[in-house]
Amino acid sequence: MARILITSAIPYINGIKHLGNLVGSQLPADLFARYFRARGHEVLFLCATDEHGTPAELAAAKAGKPVEVYCAEMWAVQKRLSDGFRLSFDHFGRSSSPQNHRLTQHFAGRLAANGLIAEVTERQFFSKADNRFLPDRYIEGTCPNCGYERARGDQCENCTKQLDPTDLINPRSAISGSTDLELRETKHLYLRQSALRDRLEAWIDSKTDWPVLTTSIAKKWLNDGEGLKDRGITRDLHWGVPVRRGDEPWPGMEGKVFYVWFDAPIEYIACAKEWADARGLPDAAWERWWREDKGAADVRYIQFMGKDNVPFHTISFPATIMGSGEPWKLVDYIKSFNYLNYDGGQFSTSQGRGVFMDQALSILPADYWRWWLLSHAPENSDSEFTWENFQASVNKDLADVLGNFVSRVTKFCRAKFGETVPEGGEADAHAAALVAELETRVRAYEGHMEAMEVRKAAAELRAIWVAGNEYLQSAAPWAVHKEDPARAAAMVRLGLNLVRLYAVLSEPFIPDAAAAMLAAMGTSDRAWPGPIGEALAVLPPGHAFTTPDVLFKKIADEEREDWARRFAGRRD
Ligand code: MF3
Ligand code: ZN
Repeated sequence: MARILITSAIPYINGIKHLGNLVGSQLPADLFARYFRARGHEVLFLCATDEHGTPAELAAAKAGKPVEVYCAEMWAVQKRLSDGFRLSFDHFGRSSSPQNHRLTQHFAGRLAANGLIAEVTERQFFSKADNRFLPDRYIEGTCPNCGYERARGDQCENCTKQLDPTDLINPRSAISGSTDLELRETKHLYLRQSALRDRLEAWIDSKTDWPVLTTSIAKKWLNDGEGLKDRGITRDLHWGVPVRRGDEPWPGMEGKVFYVWFDAPIEYIACAKEWADARGLPDAAWERWWREDKGAADVRYIQFMGKDNVPFHTISFPATIMGSGEPWKLVDYIKSFNYLNYDGGQFSTSQGRGVFMDQALSILPADYWRWWLLSHAPENSDSEFTWENFQASVNKDLADVLGNFVSRVTKFCRAKFGETVPEGGEADAHAAALVAELETRVRAYEGHMEAMEVRKAAAELRAIWVAGNEYLQSAAPWAVHKEDPARAAAMVRLGLNLVRLYAVLSEPFIPDAAAAMLAAMGTSDRAWPGPIGEALAVLPPGHAFTTPDVLFKKIADEEREDWARRFAGRRD
């Protein structure tokens, strides 16, 4: 039994996330948190909202609310939706928590003490129309790299390039649209990442098992231009973590806050403290996950994120941790994802394009989305959501294959033997072949899950469901029953046990259906299967079950067309 720390990139507070966001970090993180728990490991699974910086300020202004009020409300909305999708976080924190304020200031103090912070006087855009400095997303313009016209001052959404507001062509204020911008002097703190370049490179080079997507982005950033650039870690904003050197004020930095990308990853750590504090646990309880000197040396730490987040997790955050000179845990494995596109274009929060988490749950239960999203996760390339494809997978995989299997076995048993596991008969050649096939497939499924190959795992799980249907088809208990009811009883007994086994194996993907299947089988035995023959004998003859309602209903063509129409336009 191992200890596994899992974090998902923390979603920005500004509004409800779309399905592309969900499948890029929180959902796969949940898949593996559930899987590793099911395998008996001790898991701490953390997520939070990313509340500081320009995204929050801009969204609050648009909503006409004070930013604190806006963030508190949106945290509750995101929490409700993550519960709706059955994301099994041990804690869903907030980067604006007092715990994160203190820890962020602590790290800044340590970095300064180690000579890794430079104070730089630089020129930043000041907007006379808005009477303020305009950092990061407060500036929009044309990307110098790809020509995208709605690039933001911190990063181009189109080509993922990290930007500085002054890099943009035709810069304008995101608040007023004003182009009357002037460069004014202001003092900021820079994290001297360049001083850590060799350590960062050696560390990244040591991660030979990381997905290519992760290492290629890390390497690109490490070697971009002249080499690793130092990054400004403070901003002229009101909302954020006030700049302090540990517990001390920072002369000359009054009224400034840390940059959101400095404090957000630190929330991964602060969130563990929030988790402990919320349960009245001592600091030792969270430090054993995060401090190598306090037990975290044998924790395996896995992070999940979209590809645009990789630079911050392979360079900036590790630089913060290494530079602190303290034994904080570094990530062991970074699972990153490409983008999910929507029906011939991009999902876009700013343009309200695509299906958002609240809308998704308003039309279908979480499992339908979880299954489609995970089985089509944009792992090796971008993937695309289309309503046709969604309908086809739900109807085939969930309704025809899994749902139909459960319904055939339970209904046939109820009709011929009643709602108890029938006794008598013996396993025949069909059963032996099925057990052999499942033995191979279940071990392959475990292998894909251990390797964190989401699509391969989903495909194997589906094949495991298919094997059950094929078994029923070839064994044909309904035909056998006429001459040899005992043989049919053995088949049905195997089938009912398969339902339980399917529930256990499928739980990480479709937890609600799994729970319904276990409830129907009248058992809470979720033991992960050892030898398949044994796993298929857990429900003994005489054990009572109930025939469940339809597990998955099919999506009709009219529904599909209606939804495609409803979600084609802008969300307002
Ligand atoms: N809020 C960021 C995004 O959605 C992710 C922040 S991840 C963390 O892209 F490392 F900063 F926490
Ligand atoms: Zn670009």
